Amino acid sequence: KRLTVLVSGSGSNMQSIADSTNRGILKGLAEIVLIISNNPDAYALKRAENENIKAVCVERKSFEDEKSFNGAILEELQNVKADIVCLAGYMRMIGQEIIDVYRGRMLNIHPALLPKFGGKGMYGCHVHEVVVKAGEKKSGATVHFVEGEYDTGKIIIQREVEVFKSDTSQDVAKKVLAVEHSIYPEAIKKVIENGL
Ligand code: GRF
Repeated sequence: KRLTVLVSGSGSNMQSIADSTNRGILKGLAEIVLIISNNPDAYALKRAENENIKAVCVERKSFEDEKSFNGAILEELQNVKADIVCLAGYMRMIGQEIIDVYRGRMLNIHPALLPKFGGKGMYGCHVHEVVVKAGEKKSGATVHFVEGEYDTGKIIIQREVEVFKSDTSQDVAKKVLAVEHSIYPEAIKKVIENGL
């Protein structure tokens, strides 16, 4: 299956998906055919270069409106005949017209146990501060289908981590990121094997 990964930042989730296609559970099942970043400075673009994976930067500010920005992303996806679209640390809301084309084939990873601690603004390291402040005993990561509103699609895989009283948000972020790196490839494999 042909994967496209959308990124904005360090791309560690993209890296773990790439590694699993090369020598892990996705070997022979999937390959990343394109990386799309909305951020020209994303370290993920360096990772793509290291992995010899085609990468494009589609920046919102290069377009006069959301419609043409979304159109450009959709065109990139269709050019490479993407079967599955993986949002991995992608920090923008995906346009509804793209979701409509890829419904049932677009995944996102969220660094918390959805439906708790989801929604706009709960992105990246911020969510861990909220979890620690709330005194939660556990957190984790969730891979879900992207259907519309932030973080609301059907859950594919979720895995927990323990949160200790002494944990800082950085401690939680580290534990959760490690779990993300293992469940994202598992979720992609599950979607492919369930007859995508
Ligand atoms: C991480 O906090 C991850 O939880 C979230 O986006 C951030 C960066 O991920 N999905 P990545 O290293 O760019 O994959």
